[in-house]
Amino acid sequence: MNTQGENFVQSLQCISDRVDKALAEWLPLPSPQTSGRLNEAIRYSAMAGGKRIRPALCLLIAESRGVESKAALRAGCAFELIHAYSLIHDDLPAMDDDDYRRGKPTNHKVFGEATAILAGDSLLTLAFEWFAELAQYGLSAEKNIEIIKLAAKSAGYAGMVGGQMLDMTFERRETSIETLETIHRQKTGALISAPMQVGAILADYQPAERRIIEDFAAKIGLLFQIKDDLLDVEGDQRQLGKKIGRDVELGKTTFPGLLGLQGARDYAQKTLEEAHGLLQQLALPVPLLADMAEYIYSRQR
Ligand code: IPE
Ligand code: IPE
Ligand code: MG
Ligand code: MG
Ligand code: MG
Repeated sequence: MNTQGENFVQSLQCISDRVDKALAEWLPLPSPQTSGRLNEAIRYSAMAGGKRIRPALCLLIAESRGVESKAALRAGCAFELIHAYSLIHDDLPAMDDDDYRRGKPTNHKVFGEATAILAGDSLLTLAFEWFAELAQYGLSAEKNIEIIKLAAKSAGYAGMVGGQMLDMTFERRETSIETLETIHRQKTGALISAPMQVGAILADYQPAERRIIEDFAAKIGLLFQIKDDLLDVEGDQRQLGKKIGRDVELGKTTFPGLLGLQGARDYAQKTLEEAHGLLQQLALPVPLLADMAEYIYSRQR
């Protein structure tokens, strides 16, 4: 990896340390009034050491003018809670039925299905408590409501949840590339795009800039899931921390399935180039975003 790439990996590590520290501080502590088991299940998944890409995207944009943003850290962590919940539910026997995640047994394998479902529910609702508290960092009520609405839309019916439904609906069925893109845009793209849009709101980006960020976010969201599909075929299980080959076993519609391995790699590269092209339209360049696109394209975990 070139020096720029190495610097970016260090920046990402630095953000991920900030996120881990903040989550450890902000997640609820066990108390006599609440279930210790539920608390343990929540922390098990929220503190499991993911790449923290969603908070990173929020922070990279919110702090692109050089000012640290506690609000962006809080919002980014809230998105990470939604992400953790989505993974717990995605791994359940009723969905992808996976036993490993981030190199450890999945939540339901450790705590049982019922607790895993409730841990997911708790993470989702806790995220919205955190979004609703953003005004404490000096944000206007109007911006705060806009952020809450964005988060709800990205997580829900027409976002991640809707995409998960389509993902199951199209198992073992012939699917067009347009449909597959719709599935990926919703199930993964929405929760990649929303933190970036929140970052842009917090950094007071103007509408024209926000539109470019939105288009760029859509590209890297798609790229992220094309790469996830590719890693499920050609990734290293130990490095990924999850079992590979599951998409074929479950009959999922994926880019390698639809375009072949080389076709999917080429599609990823084309999507990366389009993402870079969009960044050039930003009046104030954010070099770390270009690095992020490269990172998503070349990641091995
Ligand atoms: C995995 O997301 C699930 C998808 C949305 C494809 P990540 O690859 O970001 O998972 P972690 O958080 O780094 O484990
Ligand atoms: C899951 O997509 C996307 C979510 C909304 C959690 P996948 O099912 O492909 O994610 P992995 O491969 O299990 O991480
Ligand atoms: Mg899935
Ligand atoms: Mg899965
Ligand atoms: Mg996958």
